[in-house]
Amino acid sequence: MKNFEFKNPTKIIFGKDTIKKLETEVPKDAKVLLVYGGGSIKKNGIYNKVIKALANIELIEFGGIPANPEYEVLLKALKLIKEEKITYLLAVGGGSVIDGVKFLSAAALYEGDTPWDILAKNIKTEKGMPFGTVLTLPATGSEMNSGSVITRAETKEKLAMGGPGLFPVFSILDPQVVSSIPERQLANGLMDAYTHVLEQYMTYPSGALLQDRFAESILLTLIEIAPKVLKDPTDYEATSNFMWCCTMALNGLIQKGVPTDWAVHAMGHELTALFGIDHARTLAVIAPSHYTFNFETKKEKLAQYGSRVWNITEGSIDDKAYAAIEKTTEFFHSLGIDTKLSDYTKDYEGTAEKIAQRFTDRGWKGLGEHQSLSPDKVEKIVKMAY
Ligand code: NZQ
Ligand code: ZN
Repeated sequence: MKNFEFKNPTKIIFGKDTIKKLETEVPKDAKVLLVYGGGSIKKNGIYNKVIKALANIELIEFGGIPANPEYEVLLKALKLIKEEKITYLLAVGGGSVIDGVKFLSAAALYEGDTPWDILAKNIKTEKGMPFGTVLTLPATGSEMNSGSVITRAETKEKLAMGGPGLFPVFSILDPQVVSSIPERQLANGLMDAYTHVLEQYMTYPSGALLQDRFAESILLTLIEIAPKVLKDPTDYEATSNFMWCCTMALNGLIQKGVPTDWAVHAMGHELTALFGIDHARTLAVIAPSHYTFNFETKKEKLAQYGSRVWNITEGSIDDKAYAAIEKTTEFFHSLGIDTKLSDYTKDYEGTAEKIAQRFTDRGWKGLGEHQSLSPDKVEKIVKMAY
């Protein structure tokens, strides 16, 4: 096991009817900016619950954060924060709204001239404006981590940011919110959480026995509950486990002491930036090719995953590892998610070269747990995913 430090300061408030606890979590003297997305919270009753809980708090609203939170829109919210002397942010939404609020938290206290530099120059945020979240869509884990991904439509860029100052102060996780989520987004959430675990597990054995089993237990739970969540998003037992799996998949715990990969996400973000494909679906496109291309360096973990998660007990390490990739692809299909770029766009020729060039331009020399995936290898993986 590798050395590590672990600190996660986010308070989680989990369970039925917990949105009302906002009343005691948001400081009484705060001037709050309530940030939300395209309006789903107004249809499903979440907005009313939030407003009721915050009846005695000074509050301004900013709605309209799009999926894949957009820099230009966020700049409007930033202006409002400064004009209105906001002191506290509240995100009510999925990963996009929460990530947008993390950007605002950082940008509100940023002293440089151009907030885009926080992303372009990868500036770590040590201290941001405090914020809480009410999670409406289990998927990203953003409710209990300090990372964020922001899109700039103008240049078709999607870049990550973060830092120890960007953990939510608290996050309210009421699994009842899942009942209004459309099937496409439920599948996306299952897919995203599953891949988060794979990115922190599918590397090479490092003697971290407990972390491996944490990871496998999240995968097994997601496989078990996926059909139930898709069939009936009011099934509380299934949705509560779904929500907690998503949070646990990316709150920092399972990555401690182990090597991590994250190349699937790096390539996937480019597909969202170039084609607007849902984040989770880009992962389903890249992951099978990535594991096949990197078979030799990943086969021991692939075989371990195959036997412990998919019960593949026959054959050599290579046999088990290949079967594990097949089972994984079948699982993605069982969620109703396509796994080839050509399933999403007819305009895919040249994509691999374009992504490789972008990585070269950014000076990214090598992705993956061995930092060995140079842009020419990225090009091959993306091509395999056509
Ligand atoms: O905009 P509204 O009206 O809220 O509708 C949203 C949106 O259309 C809808 N929705 C959310 N909760 C709902 C609901 N509809 C009905 N009922 C509810 N309860 O779902 C749609 C998608 O929402 P979005 O927030 O975009 O989805 P998700 O949570 O999957 O977030 C995706 C974003 O998070 C980033 C992705 O790159 C992408 O930009 N990620 C963030 C990470 C992080 N911060 O740690 C890690 C991830 O790997 C990921 O990169
Ligand atoms: Zn993800």
